[in-house]
Amino acid sequence: MKIDVIGAGSLGLLLAGKLASIGNELRIWCRGEIQVQELKRKGLTVNYEDEREPIWIPGERMEAYTTEEFTDRSLEEPAEWIILTVKQKVLHTEIMKVLEPLRNLKPHIICFQNGSGHMEVLQELLPNAHLYAAVTTDAAKVLSPSEVMHTGAGETWIGQLLHSSKDIGTLTDQPQAISFLEQLNLAGFLSLLSNEVESKIYRKLLINAVINPLTAIWRIPNGELLASSDRIQLMRELFEEAIQVYNAAGIQHDANAWDNILQVCQNTAGNTSSMLADVLAGRATEIKWINGNLLNMADRSGLAVPTHRWICRIVEGMNVEKG
Ligand code: PAF
Repeated sequence: MKIDVIGAGSLGLLLAGKLASIGNELRIWCRGEIQVQELKRKGLTVNYEDEREPIWIPGERMEAYTTEEFTDRSLEEPAEWIILTVKQKVLHTEIMKVLEPLRNLKPHIICFQNGSGHMEVLQELLPNAHLYAAVTTDAAKVLSPSEVMHTGAGETWIGQLLHSSKDIGTLTDQPQAISFLEQLNLAGFLSLLSNEVESKIYRKLLINAVINPLTAIWRIPNGELLASSDRIQLMRELFEEAIQVYNAAGIQHDANAWDNILQVCQNTAGNTSSMLADVLAGRATEIKWINGNLLNMADRSGLAVPTHRWICRIVEGMNVEKG
């Protein structure tokens, strides 16, 4: 299967390496020429934390380009699937521009972003596209521009937002989605189709809205959030406000949602959250699409969420995008 991965960060490299290792034709779209050259020269390596052998894809067994080249190449030779693993900010700026010319086509696109709001924007940009959202708990860490570490095996849920799936009744009658899912499973990602991916997006949003900003502000790995009652108290305040927002908006949440967040902190204790990684790398964070979207929902319901409002402003002021 010919697959484009747009976004060669941790998740993008992980997906590309593992999907290429089972014989798929991968094109990896990077932000800069330096990474393109390194992938061509050194190939792509996926490492594991346990004793499993690393996966190595030689440079000549995959293609690497900059995202600027995407439109022309993709129009000339489209892939069967486009995987979007860029960060929200990049998706809403550079990537919207390179995707726009596909407006009249019907590409199959799958989005792996944290946060919410992007699916609706993409649907508007590409009204004929088959758009899927993916919610994953697989975790990865970039070691170098051509090397990634799979730091945690999780689950990946894939589905269409109900209001955007105009041409299907259920997901199971989508042969393309099923064959893509097979590739993910063969590549070692435990992946499932979901008719309620939207609720999985909101479940993950809740986790990210509590864990990510606090780890970014305090510069601590996820597990360290549980190290003091002051930290847990602030997590709890963010959680309570988010639940009020969900209740007002009619969004379902699990009865054990709080315990689930604590569990994620434990399961990913040594991980640098994606928001902390962004802050440390001087990149724009995804706060606007995580806590920022909660603020928008709160405003629509006339709810005051002072802790989220304050935390958004702090994180927004932390990063000045370098490029
Ligand atoms: O964004 C992240 O870092 C992850 O979604 C999570 C679950 C918080 C683990 O680090």
